[in-house]
Amino acid sequence: MTLPMIELRDVTRRYGDGPPALGDVSLTIAAGEAVAILGPSGSGKSTLLNLVAGLDRPSGGTVTVDGVRVDELGEAGSAMYRRAKIGMVFQFFNLLDDLTVADNVMLPAQLTGISRSTAQRRAMDVLGALRVDRHAAAYPGRLSGGERQRVAVARALVNRPALLLADEPTGALDSASGEDVKQLLRELHADGQTIIMVTHDLSLANSCATRTIQLVDGRVAVDTARESAR
Ligand SMILES: Nc1ncnc2c1ncn2[C@@H]1O[C@H](COP(=O)(O)OP(=O)(O)OP(=O)(O)O)[C@@H](O)[C@H]1O
Ligand SMILES: [Mg+2]
Repeated sequence: MTLPMIELRDVTRRYGDGPPALGDVSLTIAAGEAVAILGPSGSGKSTLLNLVAGLDRPSGGTVTVDGVRVDELGEAGSAMYRRAKIGMVFQFFNLLDDLTVADNVMLPAQLTGISRSTAQRRAMDVLGALRVDRHAAAYPGRLSGGERQRVAVARALVNRPALLLADEPTGALDSASGEDVKQLLRELHADGQTIIMVTHDLSLANSCATRTIQLVDGRVAVDTARESAR
């Protein structure tokens, strides 16, 4: 049996006294899956992603990713875990405007302790693969939204993460740029990249994901993998 890449067991996340942001969520995601998390605003999508990324800790339950008990990591351990295993893409790019495109992408590679020249080579490789290498020397402010998101994906991939997490990766893009990013996610999935994307964009889910998980009030209401297993 192949080990699941991601396993959430009875995961709950509470903020204060209200109903939990996530309640008793259990799911297993295998390497190579491309999963879309859907659900209304406030249903717990970002909460789920942040728990997988080790940016937040569950109030109860366990989160295991690629053999790491993410829920047990301290601050330093969780930063190390993200550097080693996770690439993240957000709705608003989060690129550093004072750094060139190449330097933005090199940064996470350099944080792993490799030499500047190796980091530079890797950054150029991944920028080339995402077809934005001609902008390497430019500052992000000069790029279109779609190009910036490609750079953000390049930065997320530069350390060849086991898992790519994306929170509304097309949320701030016009439809043409959104198409670029969708195409890119499809290619990454075809290459075997494990991806979890949170989205309101049904066309992103339909065109890029092999599995859809729908959250309602912090619980899994629909999981297409579960439906097809019945
Ligand atoms: N730091 C926080 N403190 C208190 N409540 C929070 C915090 N973060 C999230 N919540 C609450 O948890 C619930 C789930 O939030 P979450 O951000 O996961 O929703 P979401 O599905 O990502 O929504 P959206 O589609 O609007 O991004 C919401 O009710 C939200 O208000
Ligand atoms: Mg959210």
